[in-house]
Amino acid sequence: MPLIHLISHDGAALELDVPQGHSVMQAAVAAGVRGIVGECGGSAMCATCHVYIDPAWLDRLTPALPNELEMLECTSSERRPESRLSCQVKVQAGLEGLVVRLPATQQ
Ligand code: FES
Repeated sequence: MPLIHLISHDGAALELDVPQGHSVMQAAVAAGVRGIVGECGGSAMCATCHVYIDPAWLDRLTPALPNELEMLECTSSERRPESRLSCQVKVQAGLEGLVVRLPATQQ
């Protein structure tokens, strides 16, 4: 299981082992991580799983599809170039060590 690093808005760091094929949102919600809500269950319909991907990792991810890009217009916290919906980021072996930062708020 790839290990990923979550960094909360206040700088607290957390490591999560994520089964391959699971999304960052699924792993965070299952672990009770505060700061990722996942209200729609991963359908790219709510933007409450907004995260900032460390720029060093951005080009290793599958690019966002149009529906994700559209929903990223609705984030509560500032949208940045490294913004993604964590429900659309599926963890694969090549993402061992992925660094994900959480925004200040999701609502
Ligand atoms: S969980 Fe709703 S958009 Fe990701």
